[in-house]
Amino acid sequence: MKKLTLLIILQAFAVNAASHPHQRRDFFTSAVISTSAPTMTSQATDSGAISIREPGLPDSSDVAPVSRDTSVVTASVSVLTTSLPSGTAQILPPPTTQTPETSGIVNTNLDTTGAPTSGPIISTSISTPTTTIRIDIATSVTSRVQAGPQSANIFVPVATDAPPSILGRRSDHPVPKLGIHVQTPPIGTNKFYANFFLGSQTAGTWTHPYSVAWSKGGGPTQSWGMTIQQLLGSQKVFGPDASDNPVGYFINPIGIQPIVLSAVELGSSTVITNTALTAFSANVNLLAIAGAAPTITFPLVQGMGFVTGIFNGGTPILQSGVLFRSITKAAIAPKTGITKFIITLEDGNTWLVYVSGSGVPGQDSTIDFTVVNNGLIQATSSFNGFIQVARSPSKNAEALYDAAAGAYPVTSTLSGSASGGTGSYTLSFEKGGLADTTLLMFALSHHLQSFSSDTTASVKSSFQLDTTTKGKATAVVGDSWTMLESIPTSMGFGPWSPKNANSATIPAEAKAALHTIALSEVSQNMTDQSNLNSMYYSGKALAKFAQILYTLHDILGDIATAQAGLKNLKDAFGRFASNKQQFPLVYDTAWGGLVSTASYGGDSGADFGNTYYNDHHFHYGYFIYAAAIIGYLDPAWLPANTPYVNALVRDIANPTDSDPFFPVSRNFDWYHGHSWAHGLFETLDGKDEESSSEDSMSAYAIKLWGRTIGDSNMEARGNLQLAVTARSLQNYFLYASDNTIEPANFIGNKVSGIMFENKIDHTTYFGANPEFVQGIHMIPLLPSSTLTRTTTFVQEEWDAYFSNGRADAVTGGWKGVLFANLAIVDAKTSWDFFGRAGFDASWLDGGASRTWYLALAAGLGGAL
Ligand SMILES: *[C@@H]1O[C@H](CO)[C@@H](O)[C@H](O)[C@H]1NC(C)=O
Repeated sequence: MKKLTLLIILQAFAVNAASHPHQRRDFFTSAVISTSAPTMTSQATDSGAISIREPGLPDSSDVAPVSRDTSVVTASVSVLTTSLPSGTAQILPPPTTQTPETSGIVNTNLDTTGAPTSGPIISTSISTPTTTIRIDIATSVTSRVQAGPQSANIFVPVATDAPPSILGRRSDHPVPKLGIHVQTPPIGTNKFYANFFLGSQTAGTWTHPYSVAWSKGGGPTQSWGMTIQQLLGSQKVFGPDASDNPVGYFINPIGIQPIVLSAVELGSSTVITNTALTAFSANVNLLAIAGAAPTITFPLVQGMGFVTGIFNGGTPILQSGVLFRSITKAAIAPKTGITKFIITLEDGNTWLVYVSGSGVPGQDSTIDFTVVNNGLIQATSSFNGFIQVARSPSKNAEALYDAAAGAYPVTSTLSGSASGGTGSYTLSFEKGGLADTTLLMFALSHHLQSFSSDTTASVKSSFQLDTTTKGKATAVVGDSWTMLESIPTSMGFGPWSPKNANSATIPAEAKAALHTIALSEVSQNMTDQSNLNSMYYSGKALAKFAQILYTLHDILGDIATAQAGLKNLKDAFGRFASNKQQFPLVYDTAWGGLVSTASYGGDSGADFGNTYYNDHHFHYGYFIYAAAIIGYLDPAWLPANTPYVNALVRDIANPTDSDPFFPVSRNFDWYHGHSWAHGLFETLDGKDEESSSEDSMSAYAIKLWGRTIGDSNMEARGNLQLAVTARSLQNYFLYASDNTIEPANFIGNKVSGIMFENKIDHTTYFGANPEFVQGIHMIPLLPSSTLTRTTTFVQEEWDAYFSNGRADAVTGGWKGVLFANLAIVDAKTSWDFFGRAGFDASWLDGGASRTWYLALAAGLGGAL
């Protein structure tokens, strides 16, 4: 008879007494099982990690199957902790059909005063050669709460108080806020409309399928009004050699100026102001001269069905760089008070113009137009009201526009919820104009795939217009959209895959090898490796060590080494939490955010442009992820560090405008379903993002941090954002061969490369080697990588770029990235690569370890 001793370490969870004072709640706490009995030396497979989650989750409290060659096992449980909630521990029968000879239930009053409760508290004999041991530790607590209750709307503030004072404040951000004078809430630096307050203020804004840009006296029309574009797919330009398949990039022409909506009063004194900037909308105003009331206001909302210009007494004009062939006033008004004009351009495209009166008694309710020349159509009088412009490809489209004319979206509100494995989010559009007219909006493919049945019923699938980079946009007639996602609630810190939430058992020999490597890597100097002049590289180093400690603690059960290493990691992290790193962060009061001080000296590109709000979700995501693991391993660390980490979360992913210090959702774009990395630099091709995988990492980090601190709303938001990201990436960034969204002669690239609003370029900012271009969508490899990167996709990409020795020929850290990614489809080869003797440490980048890569491969079955 062999003896198995199980050590159960109860994790004390975050105490958030302020928000959940002394709430009574029953929960299952997490536990770690490891063998310690000398008689088990040949039975290392009995060692394993479990993560027991809240009741009701699918994999709650399942322990990985334990294989034995013996018929009787005795289990005993010791509780070795100094910090326990009071409660009851019990061992229940295995959940499988295998029946142990006996099962024991023990009730023990665990000590809340800190005194360890130790010694065997249960013994049980299990008579099957292979069995699953299930251990549930049920506790009822009155003084500790694992997780706060989830709200009906999970988009509630992380916090509303000032960021920690250690971060300091500055008001002298190097980028001026052009035309922003009256905005109180912090400004969405990475939002779709940002070109209107940057640089020349003439670069475009893509609302999809329309785009707008200030003409500023330029282009074929020399207009001072707003250019309105909607291009056909056939207008895309492929290059550098259009006959290639796949091509290197595609781009959409800018500056054609098919329609420009302007006013006689606008001219060389015209200026732009930006008002009512939110995460989902902006009002862009054209003023005849600085300080005047707006002549035209354009409310911009992503997906809007028309481009709407609200006139304030000016005389409207329409201009065209394509030139007008005809303009006809519709004989039948689509609605009372709305006049409709049908314009045909010289390229044969039809545009519709709807004129709606202001409804203010005594003011003009409509206007007429006269043709001045084939590039200029002018209203016969000044006008108060709004003009809506749209391109109509068909009679069917025209009928939908007719029905929707007279109303326009002003902004939208995001709400969401999560229940079990389903997350839901809703965009509710606030509208101007006719209250009883339902909005016509355009949805992208990932929206259509996830629409609720009610929203699906509003889809007009026969009316589609091309977008620049996201396939076709489809008309939807509705004042709100609701989208549903399966959310990965079972995904935790450890290896995970959609098919098998539990990580595979690691055989004893493999575990011993992994342990040896982990002991070596954990002894690296954590403070040195993370003491860098870059938030990006520092965060990666911290995350790497956090992964190593997690592996030691939960996968290898080497609690002592993990705890010793944790002290070093806390020291290394502490340099940042105390803001003593080489370039400290500062709270920028001008835009409202936490930035590196690196660029205040002048170099806008320092640390990848962090000061200019580039890449914050990548940079801070790594810190948040590392903190989630540290706090998981040592909840006592949380109270002092949570305000700092929460400030990082608020900077990249503040859920609501009730937090006055940060813009809502700086990085993640809830219309596109992914983030934009591009900060405060004017850009002709719009916002962009390169690393889709570091984008997913940021959502995963938020989910884990929410879990660690017991903020179940944050955890749910992270889960939801991660699920939406996975869907969006699979539509627009990661192309399986059956992708029908992006151009057929582009998807052979397998990944986007850099995704802009106006082009997709299969390259990177740092070179065009295949391992760079493909690898930047892999890094970092995480449990969530299996969600975003399907096995079909990973295999196809491997076959296209890295099979047949091509990965072996890669040098440097990217080689490790490729082989870690390979674990998703071939865990054995990945395991063998990282486990092999003579492994060259140069194959690991600064955020990577053999320990973690091996743990991932083992979790996917590579060590078996
Ligand atoms: C890390 O290296 C620094 C010197 O660079 C040293 O002062 C420190 O003690 C080292 N830390 C550990 C844990 O070895």
